Amino acid sequence: MKPRILMTRAVFPDVIERLEQYFDVESNQDDHIFSVDELTQKLQGKDGVFTTPSERISAQVIAACPGLKAICNMAVGYNNIDLDAATRAGIMVTNTPEVLNETTADFAWALLLAAARRVTESEHWLRAGKWQKWRYDSFLGADIHGSTLGIIGMGRIGQGIARRSTGFNMRVIYHNRSRLPVEKEAAANHAQYVSKEELLRSADHVVLALPYSAESHHTIGAAELAMMKTSATLVNIARGGIVDDAALVAALRAGRIGAAGLDVFENEPAFDPAFLALSNVVLTPHIASASESTRRAMANCAADNLIAALTGDLPPNILNPDVQSRE
Ligand code: DGY
Repeated sequence: MKPRILMTRAVFPDVIERLEQYFDVESNQDDHIFSVDELTQKLQGKDGVFTTPSERISAQVIAACPGLKAICNMAVGYNNIDLDAATRAGIMVTNTPEVLNETTADFAWALLLAAARRVTESEHWLRAGKWQKWRYDSFLGADIHGSTLGIIGMGRIGQGIARRSTGFNMRVIYHNRSRLPVEKEAAANHAQYVSKEELLRSADHVVLALPYSAESHHTIGAAELAMMKTSATLVNIARGGIVDDAALVAALRAGRIGAAGLDVFENEPAFDPAFLALSNVVLTPHIASASESTRRAMANCAADNLIAALTGDLPPNILNPDVQSRE
């Protein structure tokens, strides 16, 4: 008998076909969003689950699914999974690092340029038929070239964002849990390690690229926004919850910072509707990794992990390698 797996959400059909060679697959190509009870019920008798960042695999769900051996997330972030509870239960957990670094770094730049140079705001104005004449002061934005870029979270994606800044002749400062080795700083446009406070006070543009955790919750709140330059841009391509969205709405509304570019939100997809009334924010629906080739690579990476986990190999991207796998 083949091991049984659940796909929690719709995914590329060829990835399902690949998994069907190894497993008895229950897919969800209708993309129905499972309640906690439905998810728990569907996981009964399953050996593995292919998840996305939208499903919360809590300690409660884990405790109710004693047969589960592997949770393979199609994302680099895994704050949707209670890793400690999974580890205690002997369940392997995997993510999809590396394959999305460059695409996500590209998108941070898309948001930064769009927000600082008012691209979407001016396009909405043009589409609304308001363009009657050229004016010297139409949609004046903030320069990117020659400015100071501050990156909070200098992992693989943060370093990719920094590398791209050389063409804009920027100075890069960063804050991270620990300082990078000097050769990595040199490769990241000679990024200079500074305190979070110094970064917020000196940067013209601040990009958030750190993982979500209890420690990084509300890394940017009212106090931090007050330290930033009034012309500064804030970009979040990391996770909702790293920014206090209510505080950001208030800061954008009051002009305490210049603009923001946001791909992730607290409580997404039910994000704070107050953002919609603001013209100085660019909003995208959690698509930083969404290029065709990268999303395929992420899906196949999660599939590789699931196949390895349930066929007796160590999954390439296991997050809890010490787990005592369930028999
Ligand atoms: C990730 O990989 O964590 C992304 O946020 C998913 O798009």
